[in-house]
Amino acid sequence: MTGGVKDRSQPVYPFARVAPGTVLVAVDELGDPGAVSVVFGEGIMRADVAVVRSGGRIRAFVNSCPHAGTPLETFDGRFFDEADPTILVCSTHGARFRADDGYCVSGPCQGLSLRAVAVRIEDGKVIVA
Ligand code: FES
Repeated sequence: MTGGVKDRSQPVYPFARVAPGTVLVAVDELGDPGAVSVVFGEGIMRADVAVVRSGGRIRAFVNSCPHAGTPLETFDGRFFDEADPTILVCSTHGARFRADDGYCVSGPCQGLSLRAVAVRIEDGKVIVA
């Protein structure tokens, strides 16, 4: 399974799984704060994973807002609140999530969370655990 360029015309399924051991991105490709979206699979197996680095920590979430299921970023790579690099913002309706754990602190899905994807760092790469 390999990641690819995002095709926004195709739906992403929030419960599609990415196999353990899958390489998501090289650590060097992430800024701090920084985030990338990596899309895997086709059809009902299509998954979108947001890999996020903030404050030196790297986490990954299914890139699907719990409010309406859209990806967080409308513009490629624009995940963070411009004034607060600890907060991810859904560009569809403005929900705000802690980058640390994906918990929604305000907006239409307040109290819900992004689905975490367990990852490990190995040989300078972010890998699904
Ligand atoms: S889809 Fe994210 S806030 Fe509505």
